Amino acid sequence: MAAVTLICRPAGVLPKLSGTCSPVLLAAAPVTVQQRKIHHAVVPRGKGGRSSISGLAATVFGATGFLGRYVVNRLGRMGSQVVIPYRCDQYDLMYLRPMGDLGQIIFMEWDPRNKESIQRAISHSNVVINLVGREWETSNYKYEDVFVSIPLQIARATREAGIKKFIHMSHLNADIRSPSKYLRNKAVGEEAVRNEFPDAIIMKPSELFGREDRFLNHFANMRWFGTAVPLIAMGKKTVKQPVHVVDVAKAIINAIQDPEANGKTYALVGPNRYLLHDLVEYLYSVAHRPFMPYPLPRPLYHLVARFFEMNPFEPWTTRDKVDRLHTSDLKYPDLPGLEDLGITPASIEQKAIETLRRHRRQRFFEAAVGEAKPSKTVNF
Ligand SMILES: NC(=O)c1ccc[n+]([C@@H]2O[C@H](COP(=O)([O-])OP(=O)(O)OC[C@H]3O[C@@H](n4cnc5c(N)ncnc54)[C@H](OP(=O)(O)O)[C@@H]3O)[C@@H](O)[C@H]2O)c1
Repeated sequence: MAAVTLICRPAGVLPKLSGTCSPVLLAAAPVTVQQRKIHHAVVPRGKGGRSSISGLAATVFGATGFLGRYVVNRLGRMGSQVVIPYRCDQYDLMYLRPMGDLGQIIFMEWDPRNKESIQRAISHSNVVINLVGREWETSNYKYEDVFVSIPLQIARATREAGIKKFIHMSHLNADIRSPSKYLRNKAVGEEAVRNEFPDAIIMKPSELFGREDRFLNHFANMRWFGTAVPLIAMGKKTVKQPVHVVDVAKAIINAIQDPEANGKTYALVGPNRYLLHDLVEYLYSVAHRPFMPYPLPRPLYHLVARFFEMNPFEPWTTRDKVDRLHTSDLKYPDLPGLEDLGITPASIEQKAIETLRRHRRQRFFEAAVGEAKPSKTVNF
């Protein structure tokens, strides 16, 4: 007998239901027929929360990164099953384990160059999220691999598996003409994913800020190298509109639950635009550190970055990162954003203290944030 499975879509999600679907749910939701074998563990039940079952079974590639932990936590706390393909040491995954109920977070080794391991990782899921990324190139993986080939392989495997929800993380400034190779490859990857999986939901966030970020922390850590902060053109020609990591994680969850989101590209930005100079000045003021910027010409900055690139592990900066951080955030008035997903974006002024408190000296540790003058915003 052919295995026929029912899919219900309460609130737009894609829970896969076997024949045990409740009559109420069946009456409320459109029902389609699907040939994939669905596990009974994703039949929605409970009142919501970590110990209920949301009906989502999501594979999150790149879950071990900065954004990944926020996405996994949000999925876990609504009772989703999360498959985490990983390649790191077991001990480096431990913080992800308590994010879901017992048995709901499943770890699986994967090799992005092995098609079968991608297929295995998504075989029981109804949502696939690609957060794979790397700020620097290694001898094994170039930007082309991380931002084009791997997303393409994941998109292809997801389409072939008949999964309807695929979320791909790109970048706001992804542009084939960008001086940054990272951003050029992001643009190529975005297009490759769209061609391979036309219904993919593509997210284009600006620089993310949050506790473990490489944006606010990067500028705050410049104090390691003396009190002065090098900025190209004093940061007065670069406009930034950073977005809070939690807002991006929420956007991913809301896009999964929104049946209208398929095939759309979202531009995810914070509420305010700042000159890089003013933004870094504000960070230093919240961190209670003296701010002494000085203009460093791009070729000289590249020379310094070249020195850091010799680090075989995580380079503190790279020439590409210098270019990326000094690229003004693009505006996409025609693309939907956080508000269209029901999210009010948090501003730097509201959240920066979470990241910056640890950069303060002991005597200022508890000082109120209100003492720092809010940064000027710009409209261009
Ligand atoms: N952070 C931002 O400000 C920002 C802004 C805009 C867009 N984005 C994009 O958003 C996504 C997530 O960003 P993030 O900051 O969370 O990145 P991240 O902290 O660097 O994490 C990247 C993830 O990708 C995995 N990964 C990297 N290279 C891999 C490879 N060759 N094979 C398998 N896995 C690999 C890492 O696994 P390991 O732990 O094993 O290395 C990690 O789980 C990325 O695509 C990034 O480009 C980020």
